[in-house]
Amino acid sequence: MRVLVTGGAGYIGSHTVRALIEAKHEPVVIDNLVYGHKKVIQNIFKTPLICGNIGNTNLLKSVIFGTHNELISTNHEGKMIDAIIHFAAYAYVGESVKQPLKYYKNNVSESINLLDIICSNDVISRRSSSDPIPIIFSSSCATYGIPKETPITENTPQNPINPYGKSKLMVEEIIKDLAISCNLKSVILRYFNAAGASPDSVIGEDHCPETHLIPLAIKAAFESKPLKIFGDDYPTFDGTCLRDYIHVCDLANAHVLALKIFEKKQVHLKHDYKNNDLCKIYNLGNGSGISVKQIINIIEKVTQKEIKIIIEKRREGDPTSLIASASKIIQELGWEPKYPNIYDIVSHSISWYTKSSFQ
Ligand code: UFG
Repeated sequence: MRVLVTGGAGYIGSHTVRALIEAKHEPVVIDNLVYGHKKVIQNIFKTPLICGNIGNTNLLKSVIFGTHNELISTNHEGKMIDAIIHFAAYAYVGESVKQPLKYYKNNVSESINLLDIICSNDVISRRSSSDPIPIIFSSSCATYGIPKETPITENTPQNPINPYGKSKLMVEEIIKDLAISCNLKSVILRYFNAAGASPDSVIGEDHCPETHLIPLAIKAAFESKPLKIFGDDYPTFDGTCLRDYIHVCDLANAHVLALKIFEKKQVHLKHDYKNNDLCKIYNLGNGSGISVKQIINIIEKVTQKEIKIIIEKRREGDPTSLIASASKIIQELGWEPKYPNIYDIVSHSISWYTKSSFQ
């Protein structure tokens, strides 16, 4: 399929672009490059990259219709996009609390523009199937807020506690409404804690600024800098928060699998996928809670380096425990994580860190 990947130059986006290429799909990336990495898409994957915002209607239409300058003289010229994978969003929870409008404008308003275009008559009339372009939306466990049950299933009530989580939930709700109003087909994927890097260390996690535990702990190990632990008085076995870490390549592969829902032949899908269910929702995690201290211990073991720690007060908005039940996607789509082991996840991050910092 010809797949438009919004935010495809970001961490999860770029791993998904690679998985799409490997599965013989034809991705086109649009990214505003505020946080994304141009080099990965253009130089490593040789994939068309359109720099811009999905809120720019004319730009977006030219990409969808294959008339944008970057697509001329490529095999995308004049060809319609078949499906969208929508990653483009800001994702710093703390920042979202301080600057909520930045999140609602970018994550919600721009998504509305994208949805408006893919559901417009202009687009629908040019498609052979006469329905909107189907979409996979990257949502988050942040939409659950502080869950009352563990593991979290797709039916666990969603009560986000920060503007980032709320912005993701708002888009989920809009997508569900569009299934009813104009037959929009969609898959909503709720990621738990994405981590790791490609096992060959070609691509990995490179946020600026970095706020995530695993890359910060690796940096602390190699650069002998102290790592802050945000709270060791949580009601868990060692007092630190539990998270469900999922390998970024397993996340990426889930998108490739989800695309099959939009293809006509669904013989490869397991069990009872029903075509009349236009919006499919899946959690993506490994179902096990790993504590902050456990992550630190694993990194110390793998790197053979000691991490100095400073115990800080709790970080605002951190739930004690976020653990997924991913049985729905396992049963319905046959998703099978290749790297569920936290040692593999962390080891791939370490290899990526050592390779990229010595380049
Ligand atoms: N942590 C530390 N020290 C650090 C960084 C993190 O102790 O320097 C702790 C956090 O307090 C938390 C755990 O490590 O308990 C994991 O924190 P991350 O920042 O790595 O990840 P989060 O769980 O906060 O965030 C993830 C996703 C977000 C998503 C969120 C939902 O990265 O996009 O889950 O809660 F919104």
